[in-house]
Amino acid sequence: TKVYVPTDAAARSVGADEVAERITAIAGVEVVRTGSRGMLWLEPMVEVETPEGRVGYGPVAPEDVDGLVAAGMLRGEVRDIGACLGLVEELPWMKRQQRLTFARVGVVDPLSAGDYTAHGGIAGLRRALSLTPAEVVETVVDSGLRGRGGAGFPTGIKWRTVLGAQSDLKFVCCNADEGDSGTFADRMLIEGDPFTLIEGMTIAAYAVGATEGYVYLRSEYPDAVATLKEAIEIARVEGWLGADVLGSGFTFDLHVRVGAGAYICGEETSMLESLEGKRGTVRAKPPIPALEGLFGRPTVVNNVLSLATVPTILAHGAEAYAAYGVGRSLGTSVFQLGGNVARGGIVETAFGITLGELVNDFGGGTSSGRPVRAAQVGGPLGAYLPVEQFDLPMDYEAFAAAGAMVGHGGIVVFDETVDMASMARFAFEFCAAESCGKCTPCRVGAVRGVETIDRIVAGDDRQKNLVLLDDLCELMTDGSLCAMGGLTPMPVRSAVRHFGEDFTT
Ligand code: NAI
Ligand code: SF4
Repeated sequence: TKVYVPTDAAARSVGADEVAERITAIAGVEVVRTGSRGMLWLEPMVEVETPEGRVGYGPVAPEDVDGLVAAGMLRGEVRDIGACLGLVEELPWMKRQQRLTFARVGVVDPLSAGDYTAHGGIAGLRRALSLTPAEVVETVVDSGLRGRGGAGFPTGIKWRTVLGAQSDLKFVCCNADEGDSGTFADRMLIEGDPFTLIEGMTIAAYAVGATEGYVYLRSEYPDAVATLKEAIEIARVEGWLGADVLGSGFTFDLHVRVGAGAYICGEETSMLESLEGKRGTVRAKPPIPALEGLFGRPTVVNNVLSLATVPTILAHGAEAYAAYGVGRSLGTSVFQLGGNVARGGIVETAFGITLGELVNDFGGGTSSGRPVRAAQVGGPLGAYLPVEQFDLPMDYEAFAAAGAMVGHGGIVVFDETVDMASMARFAFEFCAAESCGKCTPCRVGAVRGVETIDRIVAGDDRQKNLVLLDDLCELMTDGSLCAMGGLTPMPVRSAVRHFGEDFTT
């Protein structure tokens, strides 16, 4: 019998290793460790292979294993024994999704090259190598793929700039410094299907003429670091990396660099400074990294999910990808549900699904059982949206028009007990703690922001201080050098606008 148990850090944190150990001890059972399917409330989730498909059980505590085995778990019978969920692919949570970027996560052994190619891996790279670099770039342009790190800049246009830049040395850098609260998709992709990222980076390198790549990965993700390093070694042996990739004559190699815990190193120019061995402070743009990036050379800087989506685009064509989504937000996005939510995890769907569908249909409302009051979308610098705005479609432009942002797709849910004034104060505190200190609006503004909110809440000259707060927000938005100071006003202003009643004594 073949049994699948996740090796993802989220599953391991609730006992997946012990569950796997107990099942491995049973004679005649082969345990395969996979990534997580992303249904985090069901972890550790065990899947048993049957002729009909994989039957899931979850959550399975280590001490449940013996009882479940005695009740027939290893025969994969779908019946009412404890944690039996039925066929995993048929679960409503899975069935409603369109998994393209995450197609293999939770399905394959992350470090099995055979599994990877058996599930469609490397088809995108083969296709890319049969095209000219310019054709690969145009395929990505036509797919409509936009930067999944948060800003939503068209990936193909960025690549076109790097391709057009004249230089004897170019780089591809993957930003895996996933620092936003409520985001974990980069980590789960790297832990669950690292070859997809490697393949995407190799395609990017071929498209722009780069020979060297770096993945800047945060130190808080030790499992992802280990998995990715091992995957790179395997990819070299398979001929997917290194000299003469797949016999094409094209050469590209990849290295992992581990960050040291600064949020600002997720800002692309800070990340480049850090990669160069310097302190992570923001560079002024222009010049953009596409023209003068790592060591001053033309550099593609993309987020994990942008790069990991490229193989499916090349394998299945730009049109197939662009058929998903709405308006100028094409394809699918990997949304991450967290905070006070009953069913947290990964939801990959086409853009256009509403915030309410994600929070209520997928998320099942709050885990506290109290009514939902707000959701913060796009990380700690994203807006707080009240339930009245839950019919907003997940779409870069629709969110921008509502004074919000989709960002990296993280959604953090709050119930009615949340105090929005303290959340707004936290935005400034966070900015003060994480500011790189290079520009005054952010370095000083964040500290003044905390003081001003304290005065408002204390009822100290409330009207005057609300005007002052608005002024400060405007100054930070317009005058900050990067998105850290520039976006901190977004959660603050949304909290004041939608939850003004929390700012009184
Ligand atoms: P940006 O809008 O300045 O740039 C977006 C990207 O497009 C950059 O890579 C930039 O170099 C590139 N670009 C701009 N013009 C270009 C051109 N003409 N040719 C080629 N490339 C060009 O945004 P920024 O400051 O890089 O990112 C801000 C976003 O980061 C925010 O919207 C936020 O959502 C997100 N963010 C994500 C975090 C995470 O953990 N994933 C953490 C914090 C913020
Ligand atoms: Fe540094 Fe803040 Fe200025 Fe960004 S906005 S450059 S983090 S001081």
